[in-house]
Amino acid sequence: MGADRILEVGTGEGLTAIALSLGLGAEVTTIERDAARARRARENIAAFGCDIRLIEGDAAEILPCLEGPYTIIFLDGPKAQYKNYFQECKRLLGHGGLLVSDDVLLYGWVRGDPPKKRRMLIEHIREYLNLLQSDPDFETQIFEFGEGVAVSKKL
Ligand SMILES: C[S@@+](CC[C@H](N)C(=O)[O-])C[C@H]1O[C@@H](n2cnc3c(N)ncnc32)[C@H](O)[C@@H]1O
Repeated sequence: MGADRILEVGTGEGLTAIALSLGLGAEVTTIERDAARARRARENIAAFGCDIRLIEGDAAEILPCLEGPYTIIFLDGPKAQYKNYFQECKRLLGHGGLLVSDDVLLYGWVRGDPPKKRRMLIEHIREYLNLLQSDPDFETQIFEFGEGVAVSKKL
């Protein structure tokens, strides 16, 4: 799809950002709230010689400050917040772009019966999936690999 500008929410230690940067040669921006993880990610990015923009802070505050369009947005941060990021992701994504949301099925709990202490989180994820699947500006497919990945194309 000629992905040239990618945004990731939740850098972790930089694994996916580095893979996307090296594999696709895309311009990658990634957001991480945890200072220790951001530091590790910066070290890893430097070790691989990648040119990645890492923004340290809370995605809820940073997303409204970014300028689109992005070709891919990879949501891999706090699952309970995905629905709160959705409108900003929609604004930032170009037409034909992909919103890739990771871990949307979590151990099968989202489509089944979650343990009591995980019910609130699962409810947030279900609301997010409903939002995605009912939005006429997106075409969404959910893949059952890993903990579930939703791939939503902006029409
Ligand atoms: C699953 S890990 C990301 C893994 C990474 N995407 C990868 O594939 O290598 C989720 C990350 O989201 C970060 N995170 C959690 N809440 C966040 C927030 N509000 N804003 C930005 N990052 C956040 C966590 O600190 C954690 O490092």
